[in-house]
Amino acid sequence: MSTFLSPDRVLVAYGSPLGSTAEVAAFIGENLAEQGAAVDVLQIDHVGELGHYDRVVVGSAIRYDRWLPQATAFVESNRDTLSRVPVAMFFTCLALANGSAKGERKAAGYADQLRGLLPESSDVQVRGFAGVLDPSRGPLWIRVLLHMLSRVSGVAPGDYRDWDAIRAWALGASRRVAHTEQRLQ
Ligand SMILES: Cc1cc2nc3c(=O)[nH]c(=O)nc-3n(C[C@H](O)[C@H](O)[C@H](O)COP(=O)(O)O)c2cc1C
Repeated sequence: MSTFLSPDRVLVAYGSPLGSTAEVAAFIGENLAEQGAAVDVLQIDHVGELGHYDRVVVGSAIRYDRWLPQATAFVESNRDTLSRVPVAMFFTCLALANGSAKGERKAAGYADQLRGLLPESSDVQVRGFAGVLDPSRGPLWIRVLLHMLSRVSGVAPGDYRDWDAIRAWALGASRRVAHTEQRLQ
């Protein structure tokens, strides 16, 4: 636990096959660092020991209606540690890209999946963000798939990330933690 004199140590871990969620994670990290936190932004596969973090942010793209398997495995294998610190989880997806009620329902399902990964008593915040549909990214089969996804979902290619919403969530999560710490002192 950080003290008045030491900065809050935060891990932002992410899974991002095509890179846009990595940019969201970096942006969250920058915003938390501006608030005075000591932040490590790491790809999930590169995360080592978790014990020295005061809180953890974990984010991943959604693929085939699921968080990436490595993001799920990361939370499951660190369940005990993550149940003891404030955790903020996020996902990027296209379900939230066009503001449809169907998309919102899908995203609510994704959020439920994430909440189910940690015990109910944990201090967890979950949030979904619209991501990127860029059919020029990735190997050929992904580009073909993204064209199909665009046609089937009715989501036009584009960058749907709402940086103001992402910043507000990142800062809201940090204020909430500061408030909790004040109450615990
Ligand atoms: C193979 C594939 C499957 C996807 N499946 C879903 C999905 O089931 N639901 C959804 O809302 N978005 C889906 N997406 C969209 C991604 O979640 C979105 O493009 C995200 O921003 C990608 O993040 P990344 O650049 O970090 O990989 C899929 C994208 C790809 C490439």
